[in-house]
Amino acid sequence: MSKELNLPDISQGREVVYKSLIPAIAELLKDETDAVAAMANTAAALKEAFGFFWVGFYRVCGQELVLAPFQGPVACSRIGRGRGVCGAAWERAEAVLVPDVELFPGHIACNSASLSEVVVPIINHGTVRAVLDVDSDKLDDFSSVDVVYLSEICNILSKTFL
Ligand code: SME
Repeated sequence: MSKELNLPDISQGREVVYKSLIPAIAELLKDETDAVAAMANTAAALKEAFGFFWVGFYRVCGQELVLAPFQGPVACSRIGRGRGVCGAAWERAEAVLVPDVELFPGHIACNSASLSEVVVPIINHGTVRAVLDVDSDKLDDFSSVDVVYLSEICNILSKTFL
């Protein structure tokens, strides 16, 4: 069975692409019960759709976030609770939008080319199980549109965290 996403081109704007991507991810993951497989295909789908500089996941493992499937340059493998943007999204259990990483206290610079970032938690039965992190090499590259649609994607994924 073909797994091609057949998404609109990014020239049509991010929201148009998200509106096709959400049902495509729901379909791709509908019979998947393994969180790593689901995160891997979701990171690939987001990279293919938007060409993000870095897009991927960190899983909550005890008191740390541990690197999970991603697309992009190599990254920090462990992040403490409350540390950096990812740790803040975990601690607050809510999305964190950072237009300029230099202005975010404690930002963790895994790659100096990353200038703005959005992190969305994956919450299952009230507990943060992982975070989705998207980094851009442009300043102020994310908005509430990204938060809304990435949160929908995280909601789809949360079902695979048993
Ligand atoms: N910048 C993130 C760390 C993860 S990497 O960017 C992939 C942070 O401050 O949490």
